[in-house]
Amino acid sequence: MTPVCLTIGRFTMFRKIFFAVALLSALVFLATSAKDNSSKVPYPENYRAWTHIKSLILLPGHPLYNDFGGIHHVYANEKALKTLRSGGNVFPDGSVLVFDLMEAPQKDNAISEGQRKVLAVMWKDSKKYQTTGGWGFEAFRGDTRERIVKDPVKECYNCHTGQKHHDFVFSQYRK
Ligand code: HEC
Repeated sequence: MTPVCLTIGRFTMFRKIFFAVALLSALVFLATSAKDNSSKVPYPENYRAWTHIKSLILLPGHPLYNDFGGIHHVYANEKALKTLRSGGNVFPDGSVLVFDLMEAPQKDNAISEGQRKVLAVMWKDSKKYQTTGGWGFEAFRGDTRERIVKDPVKECYNCHTGQKHHDFVFSQYRK
């Protein structure tokens, strides 16, 4: 009897260890894949209901016309708004700023909002985005969720470093 019991005991033990290892690997896999996904800047759902900070129209002839020509509006979520309103220069994690750029067709002496060209986003998370000043930079094409930033350092951050003293943010809140 004894050897059989021992064998069964060992087998059960082996199975337990096997399942424990399998479970652990699955958890590690899930944890790492979740982390990879979450380092992507999320689409700023419902940003049109946030606070409008400012607008600007760049016309042909402006040095940034090729990339940013048209009319843009800047929006801030509540966390970012607090810093902007207080005139502070450190945005807390969770602050989100949106740069909503549209064509600006001129007709009958009026400039209006045309089609959306790009939706650019800055999402503050000082741990995740250490290499870009604590901000995640992303841009979505037109009205889609298609991500178009390949290299956030070259395409976004390098230009925003000019505003380092204001946590890399250009826009100011006016009364
Ligand atoms: C050539 C310089 C330059 C580059 C490159 C650039 N930006 Fe900006 N960005 C600006 C300026 C200037 C403003 C302020 C616009 C205004 O005052 O209306 C701005 C504003 C913004 C804002 C609103 C918050 C703020 O700082 O005022 C966001 C969000 C933003 N940019 C995201 C991006 C993203 C994402 C990229 C990369 C795809 C990018 N920017 C690339 C110059 C740049």
